[in-house]
Amino acid sequence: MTRITIADLPDLGCRSFVHDGEPCFVVMKDGQAYAYKNSCPHLGVELEWEDGKFLDFEGVLIQCAMHGALFLIESGECVSGPCLGQSLQALEARVDNGQLVIASDAG
Ligand code: FES
Repeated sequence: MTRITIADLPDLGCRSFVHDGEPCFVVMKDGQAYAYKNSCPHLGVELEWEDGKFLDFEGVLIQCAMHGALFLIESGECVSGPCLGQSLQALEARVDNGQLVIASDAG
């Protein structure tokens, strides 16, 4: 199980972390936390252009720094770019007392 503090993240704030040995990240939006594996469906590379920077210039979509694919924050669906129609892999997570809690695949 992985626990990540998110209570200090502002709206549209992002944080990268490692879960089960894999890079992941969380985005806060409208009081909800959206967590994904940090892997672009296009080439499997990590998305951010700088630590903790996952959103596009306007701060409305997740953007891959490699070729600029854009993903919806709420669903991870790619809406522009070379992996159009594919999606980021969402993590099953819950929020507990200001922390994001993700169960391990192994249980
Ligand atoms: S690797 Fe992400 S858009 Fe190409």
